[in-house]
Amino acid sequence: MTDSSVSIFDDAEQVAQAAADRFVELANSSITSKNRFAAALSGGSTPKQVHRLLAQSSRLVDWSKVHLFFGDERTVPADHPDSNFGMAQETLLSESPLPADNVHQIKGDGDPALNAAAYERELRAFFAGAEWPQFDLIFLGLGADGHTASLFPHTEALAERNDWVSANWVEKLRTYRLTLTVPAINQAREIIFLVTGKEKAEALAAILQGPRNPQLLPAQLISPASGRLSWFVDKAAAEKL
Ligand code: 6PG
Repeated sequence: MTDSSVSIFDDAEQVAQAAADRFVELANSSITSKNRFAAALSGGSTPKQVHRLLAQSSRLVDWSKVHLFFGDERTVPADHPDSNFGMAQETLLSESPLPADNVHQIKGDGDPALNAAAYERELRAFFAGAEWPQFDLIFLGLGADGHTASLFPHTEALAERNDWVSANWVEKLRTYRLTLTVPAINQAREIIFLVTGKEKAEALAAILQGPRNPQLLPAQLISPASGRLSWFVDKAAAEKL
């Protein structure tokens, strides 16, 4: 049975602070126990404040032992306004002492299948010999349509059970997205969804309390094999719970 919990905070700022605090706590415990910490960041706008808080708390973590990955990426160059890497660069990476070699970017521009394969090779090299990647922490967001990472409703990547990374065609966006697959995410030691805003309330309630329908609500596929699943949400997103 997955160890999961829902924490409801007054507002988005408190969600971000709780997420940053947990990142620091997990980073320090991972570095103490195995001399490294591997975390995957989510995209979109919700993580921005978490990143800014982490950049301000750079003294609290030995960033030389931190490795940052991405849960997904858009098929755009890093300098494009939609780039998740670009957002992380602006809000965290450029402000923290993280060594460049410790940032594991998903290349967005170019051939999606080649970029997915390249990222998977990088993951397999980092998690040398493992059957699955075991991130210490994965941050995930939630779309109002129930997607997470780039696992969108009724897309092929939802069924992927062997690859670690997919180039996922998203018809409604008329584009490919690059994403960690469900099994790759579910091997994490800790997964934290960050969900804020009333526009997410319906999806959040459907995912947590409605019937199981993962083709329609892909976030329902996120269920750690042995890790911990936490939902950090604000009152606006929780209003239908
Ligand atoms: C992405 C994300 C995606 C995001 C949700 C929520 O690349 O867009 O990985 O899954 O987390 O769409 O996005 P917001 O935080 O902008 O609401």
